[in-house]
Amino acid sequence: MKRILVTGSTGTLGRTVVALLQSRGAEVNTLSRRPGRASHQGDLVTGAGLDAALDGVGTVVHCASDTRAQGKTDVPGTRHLLDAAARAGHPHVIFVSIVGVDRIPYPYYRVKLEVEGMVEAYGGTILRATQFHDFVLSGARLAARLPFVPAPDVPVQPVSTDDVADRIVELVDAPPAPGRVADLGGPEVLHAPDVFRSYLQAVGSRRRVVPVRLPGAVFRAFRQGHHLTPAGASSGERWSSFLDTLSGTPAGR
Ligand SMILES: NC(=O)c1ccc[n+]([C@@H]2O[C@H](COP(=O)([O-])OP(=O)(O)OC[C@H]3O[C@@H](n4cnc5c(N)ncnc54)[C@H](OP(=O)(O)O)[C@@H]3O)[C@@H](O)[C@H]2O)c1
Repeated sequence: MKRILVTGSTGTLGRTVVALLQSRGAEVNTLSRRPGRASHQGDLVTGAGLDAALDGVGTVVHCASDTRAQGKTDVPGTRHLLDAAARAGHPHVIFVSIVGVDRIPYPYYRVKLEVEGMVEAYGGTILRATQFHDFVLSGARLAARLPFVPAPDVPVQPVSTDDVADRIVELVDAPPAPGRVADLGGPEVLHAPDVFRSYLQAVGSRRRVVPVRLPGAVFRAFRQGHHLTPAGASSGERWSSFLDTLSGTPAGR
């Protein structure tokens, strides 16, 4: 197996992907803007460090995203990555996207869709996944800071980053499959307010969950379940098992 570059290697998914690849004996380059956090320091936005990070690389797993700013820099950042990849001999690029980015008019999803188009034009592979357990947990923790815990009145199909990493490794091992591969979701579709309730119960909080509906096309699309993939349900970790690992954590933390 040739060397693999994982962008976003310090992130929630990237960390898991790197650990899995390394446990299988792969040689992995990692990338971070922050000194000392990865084998290669670099910035997708400026392009700094990318040529060195791509040297000798046969596959790129592109997990980096400007998630805190709704993907504001993802388009120029991915352009720099793909240009550098082309200079480095055109390694296989695997991009992690989100189920429903073409059907939900949410600003971050529009960015993801544009980046999908760039990766597709390069000849890369696109894997769309549903919301990660950790992402849903962050939402529940944030909401749990309030006396009444607001929860979006929508379905959700949380997936473990371990299961997403497993699928990514399958794609790394397989011959490049340009374009989209089958979507990946968690093993069950749940109601977000129930998910928040189960979190509160797991951490011993008695606060009340209040389902919230918002006006507008974005919320409607989530209510209609365009971010779900029942057909792509994994047989992996369920939300309840994920919660078992959290017992004893104070609510809101
Ligand atoms: N969260 C979800 O539920 C979910 C669901 C489906 C798909 N996804 C997709 O999965 C991917 C990973 O998500 P995540 O939640 O693991 O992300 P995350 O935890 O927010 O991590 C983001 C990563 O991107 C890196 N990054 C950001 N800007 C960069 C730049 N200019 N140059 C280099 N690196 C940069 C960060 O590295 P440094 O800060 O160390 O530089 C960090 O490692 C994203 O594409 C996301 O859209 C997420």
